[in-house]
Amino acid sequence: MLLRAAVLAVHAGLLAALRPGDPNVCSYWESFTAPVKESYTKPHVVTSSKPCPDGLGLPLPCPQQRVVYRTEYRQAVRTDYRRRYQCCQGYYESRDSCVPHCSQECVHGRCVAPELCQCEPGWRGPSCSSECDEQSWGPDCGQRCLCHHGAPCDPLTGVCSCPPGFTDPLCRQPCPPGTYGQGCHLSCPCHHQAPCNASTGACLCPPGLSGPLCQVPCPEGMSCTTPCPCQNGGICHPSSTSTCVCPHGWMGEICSMPCPPGRFGPGCQGECRCHNGGHCDPHGGQCQCAPGFTGEQ
Ligand SMILES: *[C@@H]1O[C@H](CO)[C@@H](O)[C@H](O)[C@H]1NC(C)=O
Repeated sequence: MLLRAAVLAVHAGLLAALRPGDPNVCSYWESFTAPVKESYTKPHVVTSSKPCPDGLGLPLPCPQQRVVYRTEYRQAVRTDYRRRYQCCQGYYESRDSCVPHCSQECVHGRCVAPELCQCEPGWRGPSCSSECDEQSWGPDCGQRCLCHHGAPCDPLTGVCSCPPGFTDPLCRQPCPPGTYGQGCHLSCPCHHQAPCNASTGACLCPPGLSGPLCQVPCPEGMSCTTPCPCQNGGICHPSSTSTCVCPHGWMGEICSMPCPPGRFGPGCQGECRCHNGGHCDPHGGQCQCAPGFTGEQ
């Protein structure tokens, strides 16, 4: 019995790491054998001799037999059962606890149950390796974008990135009169206070005026159209169409959008190569270095 107690104690010590109360720890019964000393009673035949009472007076031995029982000990093997603990199926042991196993790594997320990744906001898919599509956001891309006019939203925050011409948080309202473009940050360039298209900046000329900026009066008493809508010196090419080829520093359907930061040249096709916070000229791409830096780039 002492030996068995010692064996159990050793096992208890090894398994103390896994807490039986942990829902991911499973127990099972294991059979084991242990040697034990067993007592039993064994019959012995005892022979004794004393003179036979045969009446003849001859001292002949007279054997007598009887059975006595003695307690003896023998080695035996005993089968017993003990409770053992291990991580439940789908879990593995890591630093004294059972953690779920995901056979595919959760790239942008964490394994929360066997074969189940919980994705960080902005990511989806079985291994959280796909970014949310344009119309969803949040954990597992479970939230729908609320933006109007087909605007995409930020996969992490759900903030709408409105197309040019719309500005409120959900891209519902057009730009205030007199403004256009991305975030409505640009002022309509039209002469005679003519309004402009909120997304492109194209001037909507009143009767009697024409030209890209409504700067050309029509022939006396007539209405006329603007054959080429390109602004800022863009030219229509081919000449009979209204397709604009934009000059240095401008882009967009009618060359009404200044180059965004980091771009320069005709139609803003050039990529700026200014380092260390240098500002790039949208026309020629030359770098204006930040204080403390010099050189072409
Ligand atoms: C502004 O211009 C765009 C592109 O040409 C056009 O789709 C849209 O209908 C115009 N908006 C208005 C109010 O005219």
